[in-house]
Amino acid sequence: MMKKTDKHFRFMARQFTKNSMLYTEMIHSNAILKGDADKLLKYHNSEHPVGLQLGGSDPRSLAEAAIIGEDYGYDEINLNVGCPSKKVKSGNFGVFLMKNVELLSSCINEVKKNINTPFTIKCRIGVDDFEGEKYLENFLSTISDYGITTFIIHARKAISGLDTKRNRSIPPLNYGLVYKMKERFPEFKIIINGGIEEISDVKKQLGFVDGVMLGRKIYSDPAFLLQIDKEIYGNETSLEFSKGLQNYMTYILNLDNKKDVNRAITHLIQIIRKISNTKEIRRELLSNVKDNTINLEHIFDGFKEDLNQKVHLQTR
Ligand SMILES: Cc1cc2nc3c(=O)[nH]c(=O)nc-3n(C[C@H](O)[C@H](O)[C@H](O)COP(=O)(O)O)c2cc1C
Repeated sequence: MMKKTDKHFRFMARQFTKNSMLYTEMIHSNAILKGDADKLLKYHNSEHPVGLQLGGSDPRSLAEAAIIGEDYGYDEINLNVGCPSKKVKSGNFGVFLMKNVELLSSCINEVKKNINTPFTIKCRIGVDDFEGEKYLENFLSTISDYGITTFIIHARKAISGLDTKRNRSIPPLNYGLVYKMKERFPEFKIIINGGIEEISDVKKQLGFVDGVMLGRKIYSDPAFLLQIDKEIYGNETSLEFSKGLQNYMTYILNLDNKKDVNRAITHLIQIIRKISNTKEIRRELLSNVKDNTINLEHIFDGFKEDLNQKVHLQTR
């Protein structure tokens, strides 16, 4: 998720799950080819398994970016065919590739030819008047001709022109259509996404499809991943909330770039919102983001003590 699942957030998420696949934000192929690839693609070794999500619509650039991603050791390369934002529309990529299957096929073909890393697609159930069961069936079938067998499907149609934020709740989700695709193509790996927030819902979905992708739930409550490991993967996990947070604080203290520290703190503030008695520390951390004058180590020391002694989760 853009501006959310950067390497710092993923490092924190990995403290709470051994099994779940983590994904980068969408990164445009041109940013990788023309920008600072190290800055965009480097990650902590503990993040595995981790997927790189690419955006773009130029077959050659996507292939070159995917090759670079492969060199960085990502476990999966995923192409974003689901984002409806204005920026994406003007660049004719993201979900707009669902309207131009010919171009999408060339992109897939070019990437597929050039990498050995698993290559997957994240799409929507439809976009604008490109919708319905027949459309989605044809779409998946055509794309699979180019060797794609894993589809992450966001079960909400994209509407161009609608504010991206509103398009996260309008129109209604249609899980049934995704289940139909799994019935129609049992050989595909179908991962469902959209509006899933409870462990009971994750379990229910797994009765119909092969996997579940969680977005906003995990950003707002990364510790939910502890429950996923336990109840979905059946792991008696050795991971613990307070240990995970302490590891993350140590990680932040070892970052040498102030910008990185501020990004990493933003994620920390998000998670400690769930803990009682943290108003003061959130205030202190926020002021650190603003003026960088506070001694982080000192704040963390106090907070670690809290975590060990009296902090309790108020997550559910
Ligand atoms: C702030 C924000 C940024 C997002 N960025 C991306 C992105 O970079 N790539 C992507 O595939 N989806 C992105 N999404 C969409 C989510 O991955 C997901 O498909 C959507 O939020 C629905 O799933 P959820 O209800 O589990 O969050 C983003 C969503 C949000 C809220």
